[in-house]
Amino acid sequence: MKRSFINKIVDDAIEFSKSLNMTLPKFAYISADDWKKADQESWVEVFDLELGWDVTDYGSDDFYKSGTCLFTLRNGSVTDPRYDKPYAEKMMIIEDGQVLPYHFHTFKMEDILNRGGGELCIKCYWATEDNHLDTERPVELCVDSQKIVFKPGEVIRLLPGSGVTLPPRMYHSFWAENGKVMSWEVSKVNDDHNDNHYLKGCPRFSEIEEDVPMKWCLCNEYDKVRK
Ligand SMILES: [Fe+2]
Repeated sequence: MKRSFINKIVDDAIEFSKSLNMTLPKFAYISADDWKKADQESWVEVFDLELGWDVTDYGSDDFYKSGTCLFTLRNGSVTDPRYDKPYAEKMMIIEDGQVLPYHFHTFKMEDILNRGGGELCIKCYWATEDNHLDTERPVELCVDSQKIVFKPGEVIRLLPGSGVTLPPRMYHSFWAENGKVMSWEVSKVNDDHNDNHYLKGCPRFSEIEEDVPMKWCLCNEYDKVRK
């Protein structure tokens, strides 16, 4: 992805959250230049836990087809005892028609919510022992704390205000219909480097082509602004 495109996607995300009257934490609005001038010692949790912006196309080279813009608001660490917070929270903006590829988490349990905009559609399958889609086993999930049994791969349609709880080893793919969606994740600690198993093995973070200066520093590149 080009840096100019990432800059624009984060600008769009800030505008979209404003349009839904959602204000993000202070560090969402710190530009790359301002990070360089900031009291970095006081922000060490943001750097260490890789909180903040994340724009990915999962290696597809077509962000609007397969990708998402995320913002991690809070997280803990599975390895660093200084950060024993056992939960995480993320914003994920999904464009109309944009798909997040099938993946499951080995450890993380997560609630995926629709906080506003269009409809959030999710398809789920249990993972088999050899990490394929289990096309036979029924998918019993809690939608807004109501137990519902879905067929494997049946579309679960979440309107604004609704959410579904996804246990570990549940493959899920989601997309937006009838408008861009402000989706939200409330979960156990999130470890994007080790706990995402993609069905088709796509990369979690994208290669970046530096065609213009960085406006927003992504969560996996704070080393570019740290003193
Ligand atoms: Fe997930």
